[in-house]
Amino acid sequence: MQDNLNKIKEKIIAELNKIKTSDSLRDLEIQYLGRKGELTLVLKSLKDLGVEEKKKFGQLANEVKKDIEEKFSEVKKTLEASRGAEDFIDVTLPGTAISQGHLHPITQVQNELEDFFSAMGFMVLDGPELESDYYNFQALNIPKHHPARDMQDTFYIDKKNSEGELDLVMRTQTSPVQVRAMQKYGAPIRAVVPGRCFRSEATDVRHEHTLYQLEGLVVDENINFSHMKAILEAVGKKLYGQETKLRMRPKYYPFVEPGSNGEYTCSICQGKGCRLCKHTGWLEILGCGMIHPNVLRAGGVDPKKYSGFAFGFGLSRLTQLKYGIEDNRLFMSGDLRFLTQF
Ligand code: DAH
Repeated sequence: MQDNLNKIKEKIIAELNKIKTSDSLRDLEIQYLGRKGELTLVLKSLKDLGVEEKKKFGQLANEVKKDIEEKFSEVKKTLEASRGAEDFIDVTLPGTAISQGHLHPITQVQNELEDFFSAMGFMVLDGPELESDYYNFQALNIPKHHPARDMQDTFYIDKKNSEGELDLVMRTQTSPVQVRAMQKYGAPIRAVVPGRCFRSEATDVRHEHTLYQLEGLVVDENINFSHMKAILEAVGKKLYGQETKLRMRPKYYPFVEPGSNGEYTCSICQGKGCRLCKHTGWLEILGCGMIHPNVLRAGGVDPKKYSGFAFGFGLSRLTQLKYGIEDNRLFMSGDLRFLTQF
């Protein structure tokens, strides 16, 4: 017993002399003096000894315990005294900068356009990404089984309606919100709708399964094509500079009549011709047209009284062209080497 006690004491003191931090001191304290500590267990075992032995070793054990506790508090004091120097903070040193995040380039362009349209009195609206077949296609003058559906294949949700048809789709365009907006607010109306759309596409540098669009519509009495052209010209100048020109050529979209595309002079070569614009000098960025009477009717608006125009920008594409980004798959890559450039 005596040996045992002395050995523990020596061991503890040797280890205490090596201690450099208050954390390791605390660990050591637990290891020896804690509830299940080595010394605690030896002291506890005293009660199993006979009366004579208890007398003999009891006193020794108490002395050992006292010595060790004293040594502990001595080391603790030395550590505390030296801590002042360790913890000294030079407040005049420059701090470590916390790197700040920022908005995604598409969000930046979206915000810029939202501000621009708000200033012209447009509402900024939202619509569901999981859309019914009715709003995504039928209400936009694309009946079931119409070949126009081939232009936009999408992801169908595996849930049939009461007629046994797949009824829910991931919206392929923001255009369904045209009808929702007319139903909710009636005419006259001016609104833009930025949002995420989905297509079942084989992806490449120009195509993604997830893309961003910005839809717009204006419905009022006596609205005509020239109103639309003026707005679209203003957007081009806003995004790509005052020199930017707009070219419109007829194009089929089921929900407008007449329908047109919209091309701006290439922002990279200023119309001279380069790789980005495939040497044409023009970049196709939007679809637009005068809203089809069937679509106005679906929105509860009387086509005899009101007319309107609508347009849809590819927001991803606008951003791609604004910054000369060659591969649109980078947008969704989450790659910081790409994102931190904006
Ligand atoms: N929704 C069309 C698309 O995704 C773009 C579009 C074309 C929107 C003509 C319109 C429009 O509002 O009038 O390809």
